[in-house]
Amino acid sequence: MSGPIIARTRAELSAACGGTSVSFVPTMGALHDGHLQLLEHARPLGGTLVASIFVNPTQFAPGEDFDAYPRTFGADLEVCAQAGVDVVFAPTVATMYPAGLDDTITVDPGPLGAVLEGAVRPTHFRGVLTVVAKLCGLVRPDVAVFGEKDYQQLTLIRHLARDLALGVDVVGCPTVREPDGLAMSSRNRYLSEDDRQRAAYVSAALRAGVAAAPDGVDAVLSAAATVLESAGIDPDYLVVTDPDLGSAMPGAEARLLVAARVGTPRLLDNTSLTLGA
Ligand code: PAF
Repeated sequence: MSGPIIARTRAELSAACGGTSVSFVPTMGALHDGHLQLLEHARPLGGTLVASIFVNPTQFAPGEDFDAYPRTFGADLEVCAQAGVDVVFAPTVATMYPAGLDDTITVDPGPLGAVLEGAVRPTHFRGVLTVVAKLCGLVRPDVAVFGEKDYQQLTLIRHLARDLALGVDVVGCPTVREPDGLAMSSRNRYLSEDDRQRAAYVSAALRAGVAAAPDGVDAVLSAAATVLESAGIDPDYLVVTDPDLGSAMPGAEARLLVAARVGTPRLLDNTSLTLGA
């Protein structure tokens, strides 16, 4: 199995993609089966499959885990080879932020960037949207694939592509789960053995919410909260929204989202459901 080409600059990317249509999976590395699923989803969507590996400093606030974020480039290349990635784009910070981290133009995520995750991490989505816009400018993909696990991120990136006319199709890919339901995440490795057991209650809460959906929003929230409480998990938020993160409507498709700290990591998860009329 021959490995992917590694590109560090726009010129190297351009030589490697050579006029074909491009499907793109942006990542911060530490690839797991969830990423493998994103890559496999993206594989048939373009002529050349590009994955980026870049731990983006601007989406971490001071005191968050930027320095400790797992960096596993060698293993990541193996996952990319397994998924049939043609090009791995692994830029330096200087390539991504030529004017430096403080002097760069940034993307304002608007009001949707200030709620839910944005209320807990106020500068996070500005960093995410800025780097995604830059990555799209460098990679110039026709289609880009993101996981539904980070649902607010996915929604904001859809808005970014629409509002800034990036000319890229944004495609969501279903969350990949461990056998007990825990959504896969690079940060799950920070869970202690005990917390790993408790972490399964986050997705169990979502399942309880789905089961209560015919009885409406209050029933969904109460069923999910009861499961979290039984594991001593106090969520940062537990909400039902419409699929675009606006107000949920009775009788319509909706989204149940939860975030909670379990031991060291904050766990994020969500599911779709259909509310009773
Ligand atoms: O979801 C991620 O891994 C990151 O937020 C992304 C989209 C690659 C931007 O750095």
